[in-house]
Amino acid sequence: MEKLNSNLEKKIAVFISGRGSNLNSLIKHSKLKKSKYRIKLVISNKAHAKGLNYARRNKIKNYIIEKKLISFEKDALKLISKFKIDIICLAGFMRILTPNFIKKAKIPIINIHPSLLPKLKGLNTHERAIAGKHDYSGCTVHYVNEKLDSGKIILQKKIKILKSDTVEILSKKILKLEHKAYSEALSKII
Ligand code: GAR
Repeated sequence: MEKLNSNLEKKIAVFISGRGSNLNSLIKHSKLKKSKYRIKLVISNKAHAKGLNYARRNKIKNYIIEKKLISFEKDALKLISKFKIDIICLAGFMRILTPNFIKKAKIPIINIHPSLLPKLKGLNTHERAIAGKHDYSGCTVHYVNEKLDSGKIILQKKIKILKSDTVEILSKKILKLEHKAYSEALSKII
């Protein structure tokens, strides 16, 4: 059912590369009465990203742009403008956007990362948290700037790493936190 205040809602574009569980949780939260945003557009840089199915099932406009980064960004900017997007959310989007894209988009771009930034920037965070015997890990929602995983932090959720935690167990626990954190972070900045 359409919500009454739909013209006041922020229009969100979600960029994905794979599974899309964070996209799914954002879609679910956007349907709640209290939500201040609506997912208007999903862009995947991978044709076979499973997450595209969440967009299709929910009748959200979705596009595959499987191109080199510069061409990807050019096409993505056109869509951002066409759909009058207010905020871009990266959700398991595994490419590093160029400073040119960030500047030209002229809207906030936010990302979710599976660690307590500034700790463990980059990939394989859970492996490194366990190997490094960290006491805690978690997830961070942050603004995207020109430096990888370095923009201003909006919100973090923290969890204690147990001796019994394997990479698989820890990643499942943190993914659950991510699903709460992303919509909370959006509510905080809208
Ligand atoms: C999530 O854990 C997200 O934090 C991570 O990829 C996973 C995507 O899962 N993102 C990064 O590592 C970005 N550097 P999802 O496709 O099920 O949302």
